[in-house]
Amino acid sequence: MTIDIESKLKETRVFEPSPEFSKKAHIKSMAEYEAIWKRSVENPEEFWGEIASELHWFEQPKKVLVWDEPFAQWFVGGKTNITYNCLDRHLTTARKNKAALIWEGEPGDQRIFTYQQLHREVCKFANGLKSLGVKMGDRVCLYMPMIPELAIAMLGCARIGAPHSIVFGGFSAEALKDRINDAGAKIVVCSDESWRRGKQIPLKANTDEALKGCPTIEKNIVVKRTGGKVPWNDKRDIWWHDLVKDQSSVCEATSVDSTHPLFILYTSGSTGKPKGVQHSTGGYMVGTYYTNKIVFDLKEEDTYWCTADIGWVTGHSYIVYGPLANGATSVMYEGAPNQPHDGRFWEIIEKYKVNIFYTAPTAIRAFMRWGEQHPQKFDLSSLRLLGSVGEPINPEAWIWYHTFIGHERCPIVDTWWQTETGMIMISPMPGATPTKPGSCTRPVPGVAAEIVNEAGEPVPLGSGGRLVITKPWPAMLQTLYKDDQRYRDAYWSQVPHKYYAGDSARTDELGYFWIMGRLDDVLNVSGHRLGTMEIESVIVSHEKVAEAAVVGMKDDLTGEAVCAFVTLKRGIEPSDAIIKELKAHVDKEIGALARPKKLIFTDALPKTRSGKIMRRLLKSIANGEVTSGDTSTLEDHGVLKNLSDLASTEDDAT
Ligand code: PRX
Repeated sequence: MTIDIESKLKETRVFEPSPEFSKKAHIKSMAEYEAIWKRSVENPEEFWGEIASELHWFEQPKKVLVWDEPFAQWFVGGKTNITYNCLDRHLTTARKNKAALIWEGEPGDQRIFTYQQLHREVCKFANGLKSLGVKMGDRVCLYMPMIPELAIAMLGCARIGAPHSIVFGGFSAEALKDRINDAGAKIVVCSDESWRRGKQIPLKANTDEALKGCPTIEKNIVVKRTGGKVPWNDKRDIWWHDLVKDQSSVCEATSVDSTHPLFILYTSGSTGKPKGVQHSTGGYMVGTYYTNKIVFDLKEEDTYWCTADIGWVTGHSYIVYGPLANGATSVMYEGAPNQPHDGRFWEIIEKYKVNIFYTAPTAIRAFMRWGEQHPQKFDLSSLRLLGSVGEPINPEAWIWYHTFIGHERCPIVDTWWQTETGMIMISPMPGATPTKPGSCTRPVPGVAAEIVNEAGEPVPLGSGGRLVITKPWPAMLQTLYKDDQRYRDAYWSQVPHKYYAGDSARTDELGYFWIMGRLDDVLNVSGHRLGTMEIESVIVSHEKVAEAAVVGMKDDLTGEAVCAFVTLKRGIEPSDAIIKELKAHVDKEIGALARPKKLIFTDALPKTRSGKIMRRLLKSIANGEVTSGDTSTLEDHGVLKNLSDLASTEDDAT
């Protein structure tokens, strides 16, 4: 495959961190960053070994890294427990009564847990799991809203060495079922319902639906959140409050090998089946601890807020594990940014005097649309650092963020990373790196990134290519759950001896990285990864559909949106009713996040002579671009003309 991504982005503005910020920062200058980075990649074992020694180990690691490409074992021989580092470690310090978690519910309720209180709740829940027969290595699935019990459940699982698998609450029953079955989970935890924009989402009913096809599940633990009426199965279901009521608040952290799996998190790939990304305990702990500290310049007195959902990797690493390992105060918000009003985020920042704020470009674009009058109503003077993650941030959104939220005072860290990398890989160091809107700048210490051509050779500065990571890093995925071969194929076979991220990028004259997008069949909708094949196979499974192809189209708000080209079975005519049916079908099988924004009905799809759908062409059509690509292999040129006409006349089918 040729990479014909020409960067059209020529952003020349440079923003230096202020001297006041740099003076107090963990990394104070580019010279300091360069020195740390150089040492870290020349001598990674020494570098990561030193960081690991800041954390608690029941038994010290004997070897920092055992690298048997493509399998890394970090801190081998070391025994630890991530919850000991996230909780117990702080209880003998002044952090004992510090707020670990500040939680704000969508309806406006509030709960705050000090380190000591959180420790107690985690122990009780861990004992509850034990009482249900959960043992080290058993998988526990969490399908929950953004409530404190989600963080408590994660930590409770980790406490006893039971890997958790969190399924985002926006996924459907069908998607939940597939993930439970792939992981062979023994327990599922959900809530009665969740709040979303004032509406109640039936998580328990969805779970019940999923559990019709999940033979490995023994118990369903249910948190009471909204108090709504839910279906109940006395044999299988147990209320969270009943489970923990009489449990002891002492539960010693199980000592696990550093390489013991901490969690599985499913993410979309190039095929129809989601990938179970498996992370380790020790490596992940060290990687998230360190990057949380230096990228966000985390200090003892900071109130830190990452707005992601814990159902995604950002929430795992930078709401729960990273901040708690650092003894920080992490804010967690349950609801939507515009509930009950468009200024809700800014109100929360003012209320808790948030210092560090980490969100996604799609959210920033929504804020821009709603207007700066909303943040202007609130006091944002506590903010000192802003972050962005999930997709390339367009310079316009960057400048808006800088101006109206950061008041031209706060550095912005644009952090590039993935579910698979576990930790931030490329990002400015806020007290050191001059930033350029749209660039995630340079790799963090300990990370070696490169851009290569198809032959795996580094490309000249300024040219586009494949983004690869050239050395193992501690928070890297261990494998894909029970599928070492797919792990090899997906990440280690396209470019020899390098981790292939699936993204295209270029570097500029300063060696800054500019991410240009995915090279595989993965879409990025609102910063969420969706596999085109996954959506296609769902659409094709509808009884009225003969064939379908899904591509991404540009979208001002969500970055990319789903566009589906659909050929209906003979005798079935396109109609609004079918559009509705197909959308509902995608909602049911995957979740509303995968719902096509545009559906284009066509009698035929453009194919090569060998019968392959020409997705590249469809993508150009969906994006209204002239199809200038090579069409010489196209079987029937008439199809292309008809499709282009259709795409330009088709109304947005949302
Ligand atoms: O394409 C990149 C994009 O998001 C993908 C990873 O998605 P996921 O595993 O869901 O994790 C998202 C949160 C870490 C990447 O392959 N991406 C992530 N961050 C950025 C980004 N693209 C550009 N700039 C970023 N800062």
